[in-house]
Formats: sequence, structure tokens, C-alpha cells
Amino acid sequence: MFKINENFLKLPGSYLFSTIAKKVAEYKKNNPDRDIISLGIGDVTQPLAPAIVEAMHRAVDEMGDERTFHGYSPDLGYEFLRQTIIDNDYQSRGVSLEVDEVFISDGAKSDCGNIVDIFATDNLIAVTDPVYPVYVDSNAMAGKTGDYDRNSESWTRVIYMPCTAENDFVPAFPKQVPDIIYICCPNNPTGTALKKKDLQAWVDYALENQAVILYDAAYEAYISEQDIPHTIYECDGAKKCAIEMRSFSKNAGFTGTRLGFTVIPKELTAVDHPDVAVNSLWARRHGTKFNGAPYIVQRAGEAVYSAAGRKQTQEQIAYYMQNAATIREGLSSAGYDVYGGVNAPYIWMRTPDNMSSWDFFDKLLKEANVVGTPGSGFGPSGEGYFRLTAFGTAENTKRAIDRITSM
Ligand code: MLT
Repeated sequence: MFKINENFLKLPGSYLFSTIAKKVAEYKKNNPDRDIISLGIGDVTQPLAPAIVEAMHRAVDEMGDERTFHGYSPDLGYEFLRQTIIDNDYQSRGVSLEVDEVFISDGAKSDCGNIVDIFATDNLIAVTDPVYPVYVDSNAMAGKTGDYDRNSESWTRVIYMPCTAENDFVPAFPKQVPDIIYICCPNNPTGTALKKKDLQAWVDYALENQAVILYDAAYEAYISEQDIPHTIYECDGAKKCAIEMRSFSKNAGFTGTRLGFTVIPKELTAVDHPDVAVNSLWARRHGTKFNGAPYIVQRAGEAVYSAAGRKQTQEQIAYYMQNAATIREGLSSAGYDVYGGVNAPYIWMRTPDNMSSWDFFDKLLKEANVVGTPGSGFGPSGEGYFRLTAFGTAENTKRAIDRITSM
């Protein structure tokens, strides 16, 4: 008799963005004439940059010729891409890495979800609250988070570290010491970012407590201020306690193309097995369960770092950040409290009149025909907040803000 993984039964509802998509589809079905603008899920709207498309075309031609055809990719990634990443994202910031410390994947979401495989079930995780739901849900699926308490909308075996306007979105060290600490910086969903000194304090804390930091830097390309670190390895000691995950989705529009990478320095060893490099466990996991990102896509990723690719993707980032400014300025002149949107493509706003996040979602959908993301979907401390993404088109962003501010 087969049995299912009972941990799945403990999960509340569906994945946040699936729930929202269902609600919007239902509304559209009942109101087919409405022109809905989505500033909900953080999906890009600008097409792949020309330099990236050209590289893909070249790679497609190679795949169609038996002299240059590629079969399975190396399961940990092609060296041409791993080295290009090291040279451009790390070496340039004074961080040296070896090629086998970078693992290419089909995106940061997969890596964030899959990384739980290599850690023991009884590790206690700490997450910032609100948080990108994948971190908590993937641990829940692996039976690491206790039970879900519907009243508090939280798991019994997860440390939630509130990040709200009151603490300037900087998590305080929790009373109970965690084994695994998730940090997303610049942050999804709040759009805020930790300063270097705050991140260094977390690195010191992790080293002192023999914890590991899982650092999601998917929005790194949006950093505009000087004192925000671009990689956690800018902090002293981070190679001994941190794993960094990155994505090509947000900096180069690969949400539909799929490419990301994870860095695991060899200095990071398992505390209970000091002779075992965590890097080797991930290599083993990756080699067993993943067959490599497609050659065509890895060539496209390489092109992001070419002179033309850089210029073109930076223009796209500037375009989205102009949207962020439109949202921030529009909403704050209409009297809303807004946060984020300076080092990240997300704007985090307080709901008006203490309205609940989901009530505000419904109001916005019905009265402005705009879709956003309710803050409570990201965790208990997200209640009373709402997220808008800057990834729409400029035209739709302006129209959405006009509609919201005249509601
Ligand atoms: C979001 O809207 O939070 C993101 O699109 C999620 C993701 O990158 O997977």
C-alpha cells in the first residue's frame, strides 16, 4: 500500500501566486469587459535583450549542426558560464571563487526549494517575516516546520523574525537560536535592503552560533545605494557560513527562459562533520537530480555579461526602476505610506484605514481593476501591508497608479 508524504497535507491553501491567479481568473470570468492591470506576481514584461537573443540564435544553430551539437550539459554547469559569473559578479567585488564553487541551475526558486535536501530534518529555520513563501513551504514539505496553526497563520517550528516599518525592516536576532537563517536581500516582498553593517552582524551571528545563512540575492541588480552589499561574501567570514543564490530572471528577463546559480564556498563545512564540505553534498544532489540547464540558455546567460548585454539589461533595470519611482511617488503624494522600491523592484505599502491585506486586494481588484499581492500572503507580519511590482510596462504602471490614487 503506497502512502503519500503527509507533510503536504499540512500545507495551508495553494501556493500564494496560484491562489491570486485563481481569484483574478474568477473575477475576469464574471467581468469580461474589465481591463485588469497586474502588478501582482513579480514577472518581467520587457523582452529578452537583443544581445541575449543573438547568443541564443547562435547556440540554436550550433545545436542543429552535428559538428557543434551539445547533448547533456555538465550537470553542474558549463565552465564558460561559471567562470564568467565569477569574473563579473564576484572577482570585480574582491571575492575570489573557484569554478566548482558555482552551480548552474534552472533558477533561484528551484535552488531555494531544493537546498533543504542537504540539511537535517531537525534543523530549526528562521525566516524574516514577511518572507518569500518558497523558503517556508519547501521546509514544510520536508517535514521540518512542525504544524501549521491556522489562528496565527504560522508554523509551530519556524522562527519568524518580524520586519516591519517599526524596525525599519531589519530583523532582530531571535531569542531562540536557529540552525538555518534565510535572508533575501534586496528583499522580496518588502523591497527594502540590509546595509553592509547589518548583514555583517548576521554573518557574525551565524558564525558564533554555527548556523548557516541561505542568502537569496535574486534582486542584486537593482541595488542603487552605496552601502548595500551586492554579495554576502563582501562580509568577513561569510564563506564559512553562507550559501548564495542568484537568478537571471530579474536582471535579464529570464523568468520564462530559466537560469540561476548557487554559490557554495568549499570552506563551508558541516558542523557535525567538519571534514565534509557542504559544497560536495550539493554537487552530489545536483548531479543526481538535475541534468543541467540547457546549452542554449547557458549561452544566453553568458551574453548577459557581454558589453552589449550589460548595457541593454541595465537599460531594462532602469526602466523598471522608473516604474518603481512612479509607484512610490504616486502613492505617497496620495497619502499612502510606502517603503522599498529604491534598491528593489517592489513597493511595499501600508493598507489604508487598517484594512486587512486581502480586503485591500479585493477592493483594488474591484474598484481599480488592479492586481497586487496581499502582504499577509508572505507571513503574519505582512498583515496590513500590500505589495506592488515595478515589473509592469511603464504605461500600465502609470494607469494603475492613476486608478489607485483616484479610488
Ligand atoms: C514574486 O512575485 O514574488 C516572484 O515572482 C516570485 C519568484 O520570483 O518566484
